[in-house]
This record gives sequence, C-alpha cells and structure tokens, in this order.
Amino acid sequence: MSCSVTLRALTLRRDGVCLCEGINLDVSHKEKIAIIGPNGCGKTTLLETLVGLRLPQGGTLELFHQPMTCEKDYEPLRFVVGYLFQDSDNQFLSPIVEDDVAFGLLVNGVSVEEARLKTRMMLEDLGISHLAKKVVYHLSGGEKKLVALAGVLITEPKLLLLDEPTNGLDALMQQRLVEILRGIDKSIIIVSHHQEFIDSVVDGVYEMRPKGLTRIR
Ligand SMILES: Nc1ncnc2c1ncn2[C@@H]1O[C@H](COP(=O)(O)OP(=O)(O)OP(=O)(O)O)[C@@H](O)[C@H]1O
Ligand SMILES: [Mg+2]
Repeated sequence: MSCSVTLRALTLRRDGVCLCEGINLDVSHKEKIAIIGPNGCGKTTLLETLVGLRLPQGGTLELFHQPMTCEKDYEPLRFVVGYLFQDSDNQFLSPIVEDDVAFGLLVNGVSVEEARLKTRMMLEDLGISHLAKKVVYHLSGGEKKLVALAGVLITEPKLLLLDEPTNGLDALMQQRLVEILRGIDKSIIIVSHHQEFIDSVVDGVYEMRPKGLTRIR
C-alpha cells in the first residue's frame, strides 16, 4: 500500500511522561481518518509530531515512505503537510488576513499576482471575502478558524492535519467544511470531539488510548 503516514510502535512523551505508546497507523494517499480521545490524551502532541514540531520519542514515523528522525528530515515536506493548529492564534504569520492566507504561496515562490488571485478565490470559497483587509487578531474565534483554514488549504497539501477544525464554526460553516473536505482527494487526519462532523468526512475513526490507537469505526 502507498502511504502518506506510517507509524510503528511510536511513543508520545511530554516532559518525560509517557502519554501513549505502541502507536501503529497507516494512512494511504487518499484516505481520511479521525482520531478521538479524552482531553489531554495526546492527540495534539501526535499531530505536532507528524508535522515536525516535536520529534518522535521512540518507534518510527515515515511520511511518504521517508523516515523522520531529525528536524532536517521534515524540511522537504514543509508545504506537503498542512497543519491546522487547535489554537488559531498560533497559526498566523501576517497581521492582515489576505497577507496571512497568501503567505504559504509567496514563500513557496508563487508570483504576487497569482497569490493574490488564489487568495481571493480561497476567501470566496470559504465565504470570508469580507474579512480580507481585517487584522487577524481582531477576528472572532470562528472567523480566525476560517482564515487559518484558508491559509492551510491554499497550498493544496498532500497531507492535511486538522486539529479541532470545527471549533467555533456555526452550523452553516460546519456543513461547508464537510463539503470542502469531502471534495479533497488527499490524505486527511482530523482530530475532533465532534462525532457527527467526523462521521460525515472520514473513512475510519481511531481512539487514542495509553497503549496506542484502536480503530473503532
Ligand atoms: N507545551 C506543553 N508543555 C508541557 N506539557 C504540555 C504542553 N502541551 C500539552 N501538554 C500536556 O501534554 C498532554 C497532552 O496534551 P495534548 O494537547 O496532546 O492533548 P489532547 O489530546 O490534544 O487534548 P485536548 O482534547 O484537550 O485538545 C496534556 O497532559 C498536557 O497538559
Ligand atoms: Mg488537542
């Protein structure tokens, strides 16, 4: 099987404390999965490890069949893996919405004109064109989530890691997000406590327990 993510006996630790050990997981190129589990069990820590904000603490982690063992291994994947932070305030890189959304394209060598056009289309797609000139830190919680999501989706990553993507979104926006994610033909890992939402998007649901991930649906 061709996989975007392959985890074998992965251990997650914080400050020397083991959160979860023996994590085995395969996510194929177009597979969408969800990970659920109680507060503090290590779901965000796992996503941070997948995106390279933390290094694996035992076991092995491969992304697109490349072993990730040190920070340098993650570098070529910077725009291949898209990560939506649980806390949107951690996501922003520019103070103005349209600049923040365009950021990933511009640092990736896309021309200013093309980045502007794609940003306009992305904001329209998410129904947030009216926020383009606003200061990100002055937005509501749901608006911040949508702007952060726009900045992640715009680079069309091959692997999407979404931490609590529906937090703060109203019912209409949640439905729009379901449609958008269903329309994306890439690997997606969603961490969420929102059962109805994940059941509308993913192919499989895993529960995080101290001894690893268990597939429950
Ligand atoms: N920056 C940090 N420094 C030290 N410990 C942390 C830090 N961030 C999280 N932790 C601890 O690590 C554990 C796992 O946290 P994590 O954020 O991965 O849980 P989670 O499963 O995502 O929880 P939630 O459902 O509440 O988002 C928790 O006990 C938490 O207190
Ligand atoms: Mg979390």
